[in-house]
Amino acid sequence: MTENVRANNDDASDVIEFLLRQHQQVRGLLGDVLTATGDERQRLFDEAREMLARHETAEEMIVRPLTRKAPAGDEIADKRMAEENEAKEVLADLEKMDVNTPAFTEKFTAFRASVLAHADAEETQEFPLLRQNTDPEALVKARDRVRTAEKLAPTHPHPSARTTAANYVAGPFVAMLDRARDAFSKSSSD
Ligand SMILES: [Fe+2]
Ligand SMILES: [Fe+2]
Repeated sequence: MTENVRANNDDASDVIEFLLRQHQQVRGLLGDVLTATGDERQRLFDEAREMLARHETAEEMIVRPLTRKAPAGDEIADKRMAEENEAKEVLADLEKMDVNTPAFTEKFTAFRASVLAHADAEETQEFPLLRQNTDPEALVKARDRVRTAEKLAPTHPHPSARTTAANYVAGPFVAMLDRARDAFSKSSSD
């Protein structure tokens, strides 16, 4: 799915549209985790973590600095960062759990609700503020930086490494974030 996701994002007109499409993909993936069972649930959970690592890092490193330049943007950026940091902590707990247990389902259900609320807050508060106050060209450049970063260093092993769920080891979310941050730093020095 991840490769298709990238292909579908190739014609996003700017960074806001790019992120909106990723939100739709995240919504779908988080729902799929809950309906899946067994190895498939683990695989989808890993895929959701990878997507969140890339998505939240793009927002943190590329979008938030633009938000902070807008009037009252600091307050909105701080709130979104706090939500993302909280989600990272919950995710670190979730990835230590067996995905096929009622405890995981319960905690993941709450996690999904908070991620969806966070995405809604971005869509209703942050993105409209950006749209109103940011030079359209800067939003196009931001899209290009996100794309370049994602091509520089995918946060997941090569697709051929995931022939079965059993040998697919995605590693912890914090490591995915490190790889994504590294790629975004490189793309910003171009
Ligand atoms: Fe976010
Ligand atoms: Fe987002």
